[in-house]
Amino acid sequence: MANLPKINIAPSILSADFAKLGQEIHDIELAGADWIHIDVMDGHFVPNLTIGPAIVKAIRPHTKLPFDVHLMISPADPYLEAFANAGADIISIHPEAVSNVSNSLIKLRSLGKKAGVVLNPETPISSLENIMDSVDLILVMTVNPGFGGQKFIDSQIKKIQIIRQKIDQHIDRGGTKIDLSVDGGINVNTAKLAVSAGANILVAGTAAFIDGPSKYARNIADLRNSTMSET
Ligand code: DX5
Ligand code: ZN
Repeated sequence: MANLPKINIAPSILSADFAKLGQEIHDIELAGADWIHIDVMDGHFVPNLTIGPAIVKAIRPHTKLPFDVHLMISPADPYLEAFANAGADIISIHPEAVSNVSNSLIKLRSLGKKAGVVLNPETPISSLENIMDSVDLILVMTVNPGFGGQKFIDSQIKKIQIIRQKIDQHIDRGGTKIDLSVDGGINVNTAKLAVSAGANILVAGTAAFIDGPSKYARNIADLRNSTMSET
């Protein structure tokens, strides 16, 4: 079998019980999660309001897993430092929400964080031109951002394939390995499609947290196993 890259599962706490976030994060780590995905929404860039840096700071002591912070806020630049200081490890921005993508990515690295860029379903791949040297993670949205529990948009599979090629060509030039993450509507069926297309990080809200803590280990194992089967 080919040398398969490790697939990281990043549960989105948007689907966790907000009344006991610390416990939820602890439980999902024990269940086998690799990263914790944190969806930050401002009610302006997307039509929903969620988490700010104070919450990120409060939950930081509850796990050692990397915090993968997805900023759906505009403007994003004034808040990069606050999320970095709150304990984020990877911070991802949408190009539409910053004045200069390169500058924001450089700023994130200067804060000692991994720098990510997020492409909405309608955001073209050409947005990645000139930033491949400045980015550590590319996140492809397979729903329109704002809410959990939406249906996976199949047309994004082609985009994932093309970006995977771009990343591999970039590695060939001796660059840093860029992670390719997929976010939205991930379940055992779509996880397999996304990984076959070249994703190595799977963000999952509903599919990770469904049926409560006693099922978290099963949920994560099901997602992981779905990406390993041959057919
Ligand atoms: C959507 C968020 C996603 C969301 C995924 O705007 O960026 O991370 O929580 O939720 P599911 O897995 O339920 O689609
Ligand atoms: Zn997200």
